[in-house]
Amino acid sequence: NTYVVIMAGGIGSRFWPFSRINHPKQFHDVLGIGESLLQSTVKRFEGICPPEHIYVVTNKEYASLVKEHLPNLAEEQLLLEPIGRNTAPCIAYATYKILAKDPNANIVVSPADHVILREESFKKCINQALEATKNRDILVTLGIKPTRPDTGYGYIQFLDNDHQDDLKKVKTFTEKPSLEIAQMFIDSGEFVWNSGIFIWNVKAIVQAFEEHLGELADTFEEGRAVLNTDKEEAFINRAYSHSRNISIDYGIMEKADNVFVIEGDFGWSDLGSWNSLYSVTDKTSEGNVVDGNILLYDVNNCIIKTPKDQLVVVQGLTDYIIAEHDNVLMICRREDEQKVKDFVSDAKSQK
Ligand code: GDD
Ligand code: MG
Repeated sequence: NTYVVIMAGGIGSRFWPFSRINHPKQFHDVLGIGESLLQSTVKRFEGICPPEHIYVVTNKEYASLVKEHLPNLAEEQLLLEPIGRNTAPCIAYATYKILAKDPNANIVVSPADHVILREESFKKCINQALEATKNRDILVTLGIKPTRPDTGYGYIQFLDNDHQDDLKKVKTFTEKPSLEIAQMFIDSGEFVWNSGIFIWNVKAIVQAFEEHLGELADTFEEGRAVLNTDKEEAFINRAYSHSRNISIDYGIMEKADNVFVIEGDFGWSDLGSWNSLYSVTDKTSEGNVVDGNILLYDVNNCIIKTPKDQLVVVQGLTDYIIAEHDNVLMICRREDEQKVKDFVSDAKSQK
């Protein structure tokens, strides 16, 4: 009775101009391996649960893209949201939908746009977590050893437990801290990043919604009876129209006191930005990541990703991102990649 919920409705704006509102990151073959991040994510869960227990939650705008990428996904496994309200409503929808089917379900919640290089270690962590949540009403997240004071992540401080258990009780959970605080967390050596991959049983997460996001719980409690019927869509439209826009991290994980973490080392990257792509991709001897038809002269530590049908020549450049996609060319210093979010909102051509 394991279910997997894949959250695939985000717009991934930091990865612009490749991720666009009409074609976000999860639908791209970011690593150039012949499959999109969404396809790799679904594949990764084969063997962890039956294929018909995999649910994909996304915006209705992306319904046809998801179907194109996942032709074997049945209609009832695709949960469509009328508007993006961040991850808390997305998880609530899937949770209550699963609850209506199986009140003893164990659920893995996963983002659709991460890279995991070591599938076997990943599976081991997931199975450990599922073992733990089978009999305990706790919220488990997978933690990652941090490498830089990235402000785009959740930071988890855990208690060292006495017994030889990989499951550690979480002391504090801080979502997206300021740079100063993130640096402090890193210096202390006591923190891991939240991977955004969660494991719990349906009872534990329903309780957490009731306790910390009561309105959302009430809404779905009320509408529970129409889930999996022909009234589901109308109910979801209503529910979303008055639902808060909040992530599971701010809404529940920061507040709950029954959170546990399992630290994993499975070659994880959330590819949240150009630099995180850089860190997991093969580089030339000059430290460049190149994808396209490109001639380089005296170029070092750059990321260059341009259309294959266009010759690009670059000379005398270090530590830059050059990315062209769908009529947008961006040239940006790697150290300033956080500014990409601003470019997106400023760029009028952004579709
Ligand atoms: N269905 C749906 N609806 N999916 C969504 C929505 C939504 O409204 N908003 C985001 N998602 C999906 C994204 O596509 C992604 O797969 C996942 O949910 C996480 O959302 P992000 O927007 O990428 O979150 P984040 O990266 O800022 O932060 C989260 O992930 C970090 C690790 O990558 C948090 O959990 C952090 O604590 C964590 O460190
Ligand atoms: Mg993300």
